Amino acid sequence: MAEVERKQDRAPVPSEWTYAPAPESTDIVTLQERYGLFVGGEWVEPASGEHFTTISPRDEEPLADVAQAGAEDVDRAVSAARDAFENGWGQASPAERAKYLFRIARILQERSREFAVLESLNGGKPIKESRDVDLPLAAAHFFYYAGWADKLEYAFPNRRPQPIGVAGQIIPWNFPLLMLAWKVAPALAAGNTVVLKPAETTPLTALLFCDVLRQAELPAGVVNILTGDGRTGAEIVKHQGTDKIAFTGSTEVGKAIQRELAGTGKKLTLELGGKAANIIFDDAALDQAVEGIVNGIYFNQGHVCCAGSRLFVQESIYEQTIDKLKRRLTTLRVGDPLDKNTDVGAINSSMQLEKISELVESGKEEGAEIYQPPCRLPDKGYWFVPTVFTNVAQSYRIAQEEIFGPVLSVLTFRTPDEALEKANNTPYGLSAGVWTEKGSRILSMAQKLRAGVVWANTFNRFDPTSPFGGYKESGFGREGGLHGLEPYLKFDGETEEWGG
Ligand code: NAI
Ligand code: MG
Repeated sequence: MAEVERKQDRAPVPSEWTYAPAPESTDIVTLQERYGLFVGGEWVEPASGEHFTTISPRDEEPLADVAQAGAEDVDRAVSAARDAFENGWGQASPAERAKYLFRIARILQERSREFAVLESLNGGKPIKESRDVDLPLAAAHFFYYAGWADKLEYAFPNRRPQPIGVAGQIIPWNFPLLMLAWKVAPALAAGNTVVLKPAETTPLTALLFCDVLRQAELPAGVVNILTGDGRTGAEIVKHQGTDKIAFTGSTEVGKAIQRELAGTGKKLTLELGGKAANIIFDDAALDQAVEGIVNGIYFNQGHVCCAGSRLFVQESIYEQTIDKLKRRLTTLRVGDPLDKNTDVGAINSSMQLEKISELVESGKEEGAEIYQPPCRLPDKGYWFVPTVFTNVAQSYRIAQEEIFGPVLSVLTFRTPDEALEKANNTPYGLSAGVWTEKGSRILSMAQKLRAGVVWANTFNRFDPTSPFGGYKESGFGREGGLHGLEPYLKFDGETEEWGG
């Protein structure tokens, strides 16, 4: 101490820059050994009696057993949701609905540490992110839509908005609680009831959310949570009693759902995959852009549908950018998601790890040059070193397919037109990023990029007031903002539009 305090002509420098472990305690989380299904405000056993184990990807240790819901359970949950819709919730005064949404938002804030720890434990994302991104945003979504509940007629003037009925909602594993919030909050604000299925690898925060619903005294049956795998999702989709389906997940399953629902008149929104372009012009503030590149692709291990997975760098600054990027990668801390210093956590599942590894192998075989910083990975669990591919051709699989992992493919361009042409050369269109000092260039690029969200001099920035969704194979319909209410409403006297 004395040494540090002593006045020196140079600031004291530690002899080593390694970080001491800073683990977040898991004591705040109490898990049951086994969970049932949340139907009609009660915990019930699955009709099949079948359960499966959910693990932690950081050490492959089992956390709890959760139920596999089947057709009978889906039927029960949809009936409970229908009852709740017809016997109260659908007719409840909008201010009354808002009251519950505000309560849920506040309870999420109060219990945010518990939720953040559980999210990181079950899904592998760094606690820093679940604590500072997932939880605040999930609460913010409930606050935001609570505010709209009693203002729908002003939101849609002269259109007489009405709730639809029972919404079936199927969510993925990359932002488990946040995707629940994106789906549940607008559905309830609009006066619908819900049957929601979390992803099979990350069911635990959705199950803990049932406790929040009870604490908020939300009327029974307004929200029903069914755990299970894709088979459960398929049952929810095809059940005659669901009036609307909202799905976030792979393009493959999204297409299957669209085929299943063709001609049924059920409303549908799909939020699917992406292969976003992050475009760096030579006048960009380069150090900030490098931070944006890192945040764009290594945030949440790259398990992000709008991840900036294709980097386009203007040729004149290529060397410089890659040098800076590689240097920055050596400072990323990969490891225990529950360590507060961790930047890149565990890969969500062994299946996803396999998919990432397979695509990275294909990149090497097709001739791209790989860079991975030196990195010590834990012995157990699922991990992937942050990876950059240079010398990537547009035709390579790593430039075409969604990897959904911490893997960046770098391409170059000379002119804005070339950047646009390459950026739009993808079946996807969820998001894009533009880095430049020129406002006019930002506006021009944003207009011509075929992507639902275009970030300028930032990336992966989310806000409940801002609509999010895709073009082309990234899906249709919007979540967030006013746009996010519309798919949960029907309008008296207006013809139903497919996919509306
Ligand atoms: P997936 O699309 O199979 O799973 C997403 C959700 O859909 C899960 O809840 C799952 O149980 C459910 N599901 C699966 N099959 C279904 C069906 N036939 N009918 C209804 N629901 C069904 O995605 P998966 O297999 O977990 O990941 C595969 C790839 O998909 C990833 O590598 C990634 O590229 C992409 N993906 C994209 C996401 C996004 O946010 N856009 C989220 C998750 C995955
Ligand atoms: Mg799948």
